[in-house]
Amino acid sequence: MTIPKGRIVQTYLMNIHYDKTAYGPEPRSFLPYHGLENNLSASRTDKNYFIFGSGRHACPGRFFAVNEIKVGLHKLILNYHIKTPSGKIEKKKRIGPYAHPPTAGLIFENRKK
Ligand code: HEM
Repeated sequence: MTIPKGRIVQTYLMNIHYDKTAYGPEPRSFLPYHGLENNLSASRTDKNYFIFGSGRHACPGRFFAVNEIKVGLHKLILNYHIKTPSGKIEKKKRIGPYAHPPTAGLIFENRKK
């Protein structure tokens, strides 16, 4: 394929990140053990996972970023009961391939009394 000079090229991320061959019959379901069971690190780069880009310009901060997210989540889960005002799991807001948190808000209750 010849791409004309100046043309912006974008990767069709939805197709990659919801691919049934790579992620099973329900790629939109949250399967918390998928990565663990398949030995898939969150900081990897491969043809089925473009979160951190690919090739020579793939994100160099990805190991740090994933580690920070793990430390942050660990601290939150350890210290708080977290729920929504309705008590139900609110729908994510999707913008293209990205899932954003719902705007309904979250209630944090201290675990320690
Ligand atoms: C969840 C957090 C992060 C995400 C999703 C992310 C994602 C990305 C993506 C998609 C790219 C483009 C790769 C490409 O062009 O193929 C990139 C590049 C880059 N990221 Fe990150 N990043 C994150 C965190 C960080 C952090 C914490 C740092 C630094 C401490 C960082 C530093 C960089 C740098 C310097 C580049 C440019 C690499 C280059 O052009 O060679 N990123 N990142």
